[in-house]
Amino acid sequence: MPIQKICCIGAGYVGGPTCSVIALKCPDIKVTVVDKSQERIDQWNSEKLPIYEPGLYDVVKQRRGENLFFSTDIDNAIKEADLIFISVNTPTKTFGNGKGRAADLKYVESAARMIAEVANSSKIVVEKSTVPVRAAESISNILTANTFNKPNVKFQILSNPEFLAEGTAINDLLYADRVLIGGEDSAEGHAAIEELCKVYERWLPRKNILTTNTWSSELSKLAANAFLAQRISSINSLSAVCETTGADVSEVARAVGWDSRIGPKFLQASIGFGGSCFKKDILNLVYICEGLNLPEVAAYWQQVIDMNDYQKSRFSAKVIESLFNTVTDKRITLLGFAFKKDTGDTRESPAIDVAKTLLDEGAKLHVYDPKVEHSQILEDLTHPQVTEEPEHVRKSLTIHSDPYEATAGTHAIVLCTEWDEFVSLDYQRIYEGMMKPAYVFDGRKILDHQKLQSIGFIVQTIGKRL
Ligand code: NAD
Ligand code: UGA
Repeated sequence: MPIQKICCIGAGYVGGPTCSVIALKCPDIKVTVVDKSQERIDQWNSEKLPIYEPGLYDVVKQRRGENLFFSTDIDNAIKEADLIFISVNTPTKTFGNGKGRAADLKYVESAARMIAEVANSSKIVVEKSTVPVRAAESISNILTANTFNKPNVKFQILSNPEFLAEGTAINDLLYADRVLIGGEDSAEGHAAIEELCKVYERWLPRKNILTTNTWSSELSKLAANAFLAQRISSINSLSAVCETTGADVSEVARAVGWDSRIGPKFLQASIGFGGSCFKKDILNLVYICEGLNLPEVAAYWQQVIDMNDYQKSRFSAKVIESLFNTVTDKRITLLGFAFKKDTGDTRESPAIDVAKTLLDEGAKLHVYDPKVEHSQILEDLTHPQVTEEPEHVRKSLTIHSDPYEATAGTHAIVLCTEWDEFVSLDYQRIYEGMMKPAYVFDGRKILDHQKLQSIGFIVQTIGKRL
């Protein structure tokens, strides 16, 4: 029987967009996305979705109430589904064994336990969350150990990691370079892989669907993120060399990326990578390698994170140094707070690190971001991991809804996110309203530096001496 009903546990950045696209492309499949958070589900059922993602609302609007449903009735959705995606969060552990490095699988485990408890027919269970290699084994153990009294209920576990990037999720899903499906090397395993292939084949050519064994699939997801982040750390390391030698990192990236063996993507030097996954997935890889007694491999990947931390602190230090080594009581404006453009997500955003340094140094911080909720900025900057003095932060922080208000009377603009709208701001107008000398620190290399200089700004950027 082909898949008729899909349940997705976890209505987040992955579960929501992925299942919306499946519902769009498979109108005869009923897709129910469930979450334990009533607030999140209410938002998915409203006009203001819980995440900002270009094109997402159009897809949701087309299918919601037809074959796409958002619900907190997890039990019922599990019971009726033929195939269940587990798309819950897998954050870095904050306590206990592996603290600060290992992936915390408590949400995956609780999803597996819920499935075992309520399922009364056989299911294909798909790991969509990013997990450590061999996590499918743990899920399988939980499922079989808790269904010993239901002999007719059998499970096939597949690994189907997600490769979408925030800000381009809908396009990434509609035109995926590849879909990866790992499963057990048995007749039942192959049959389950085939069922999931048939879902994706509704809109993607078969040649874009890769099938592997379960462990290769799990490890490939960690490896892909590690490779992508490694490219950013590599170019960022060279940006430091450029700043002291007179080379221009954009020219270097272009020259290096022109080699078809290397390719041009993911060589954009920046204030450092952010986002919920790169750091957590590499930390997880490092932890796994240490557990396998492969310290050299662990150290190799750890360096990608260390370089990213260095880049973030190097940039913040440059801002302070340029402002005569003190920012105390100076008004400074952060343009952009999201970890990249076209998302409202701030998880691991490098802007948080920059803001923290400036606040610790006593700056009066003004922040503008086109999509991040004001409450999110306040929450991020008063988080116990960021400050021991939340009251001081509240007093020193002003969040704006307009970039011109945010920059009026400021000493320096620090551009942290590459939002398109920042390129076309009226910098002449901004300059006139700023304290002099007026500084721009372009952490994303998107502005016209010559033009800014001709207006009168002192400009600094990444990987180029100006
Ligand atoms: P998220 O935090 O946005 O969403 C996870 C959701 O799962 C939350 O709404 C939470 O309430 C819900 N949840 C947790 N436990 C639950 C349970 N037992 N029952 C019901 N709901 C539960 O996370 P995300 O960004 O969507 O990431 C999910 C997974 O996908 C992670 O493993 C991540 O590494 C991976 N991933 C994320 C991205 C991305 O762009 N964010 C891309 C690829 C892969
Ligand atoms: C990344 C991967 O690109 C996805 O394939 C993966 O599915 C996802 O992680 C995940 O597992 O969560 P995402 O973090 O959403 O996606 O966004 P990216 O476009 O990869 O950007 C990550 C960070 O790197 C951003 O802060 C971005 O500004 C930065 N970046 C990216 C650079 O500094 N330079 C670049 O050249 C590219």
